[in-house]
Amino acid sequence: MFLNREEEAIFSGNKGEMLAKLMKLIVKLGESFGAEKLIDITSAHTVLNFGLNFVNAAAQVIHEIREANLKVKVRTTADPIIDMDYKDELSMVYPMFTLHDQLIDDLLHVGIHGFTCTPYFLDNRPNFGEHCAWSESSAVIYLNSVIGARSNREGGLVDIACGILGKTSYHGLHLTENRKGDLLFRLSDDVDKHDLFNLTSMGLIIGEIAGNKIPVIEGLEHASNDEIKNLGAASASTGAVALIHVIGKTPEAKNVEVAFQNDKPEDVIEITMDDINEVREKYSTEWSLPPKNLSIGCPHLSRDEVLIVLEKLKGKKIAPGINFWICTNKEIKDEIVNSEYNEILKDSGAHLTHFCPLLTALPRPLITNSAKTCFYSNATYKNIDECIQIAERGTNND
Ligand code: F3S
Repeated sequence: MFLNREEEAIFSGNKGEMLAKLMKLIVKLGESFGAEKLIDITSAHTVLNFGLNFVNAAAQVIHEIREANLKVKVRTTADPIIDMDYKDELSMVYPMFTLHDQLIDDLLHVGIHGFTCTPYFLDNRPNFGEHCAWSESSAVIYLNSVIGARSNREGGLVDIACGILGKTSYHGLHLTENRKGDLLFRLSDDVDKHDLFNLTSMGLIIGEIAGNKIPVIEGLEHASNDEIKNLGAASASTGAVALIHVIGKTPEAKNVEVAFQNDKPEDVIEITMDDINEVREKYSTEWSLPPKNLSIGCPHLSRDEVLIVLEKLKGKKIAPGINFWICTNKEIKDEIVNSEYNEILKDSGAHLTHFCPLLTALPRPLITNSAKTCFYSNATYKNIDECIQIAERGTNND
């Protein structure tokens, strides 16, 4: 790989041993993908945040980065951390987070702050066309598909190395020619395209079929960015998808021709209601026991999405013994808790939190509207209205 004089000096260790290690990490990785040079980035995001016991090796490296007094050069955020406001509800879970305090302290010292998987709702929202180094698959797919900035799915630690160096290797989705659509997807007429649950389920199917190819979706011009966020998170779970062109929404896909860069799709796939029902069943785990936890907000909800859930909860009460979690970033949480909407939370008994409902290892049975949570764990997959009805009843049965 070509390195300029400054990069070469870092690589050779002239700027310190730890910086050289981080440079070697991104250079060697880049070379394995055929990258010929590094490029400057404007933003980074890391998945390495969770102080669970099993991330001790990564936590040790982050501690060494701190000890070397290195700081990130570009705005860098991290995935959600545990929420210490719920010590009673999560008393069984907290003991697993032995590394939490040290890890967060180290990340803050390195200059990483803002703990959410939707950093684009905070101030880590790059501009169209900017090069970034993000991990967290749901965030990467939003970055590429909704914002039109450019990032590959970076790995944990590589993302931090990129943030510190302000660079990543130039390959994959950083190159325009690699952002060309491969497969064209449509929903058949029997599917309600305005139903969020259908769109999220469609995401599961797209990821399964696309693998690491680039899907293009026709017929969702009406979809909101939040809906694309949820669809994209599902696709990035079942597949290695990092970019979806939603015609009429994705900045680089104003029409089908542009999305395919004037080439033809390899295949055209129509998704029917039968396909959607099948995938829901496939990824939903049914429990005979009554639920202990229900969660909405994986990926973290936008402010608008939180308000939609609160509106649905108005006048309702969560049954005793059940935790109903609404997950968003800490800034939105604080704002809502200090507003008139807090009455709805108090009256209903629902909890607004900034944790990740998947990694918090909530006791089972867990019911959620998140396709991603259901793909990665043994949760039951329901839409938001069903989740609220079950939480009110306290049982799965009608
Ligand atoms: Fe976010 Fe956790 Fe889901 S990081 S996307 S809430 S698995």
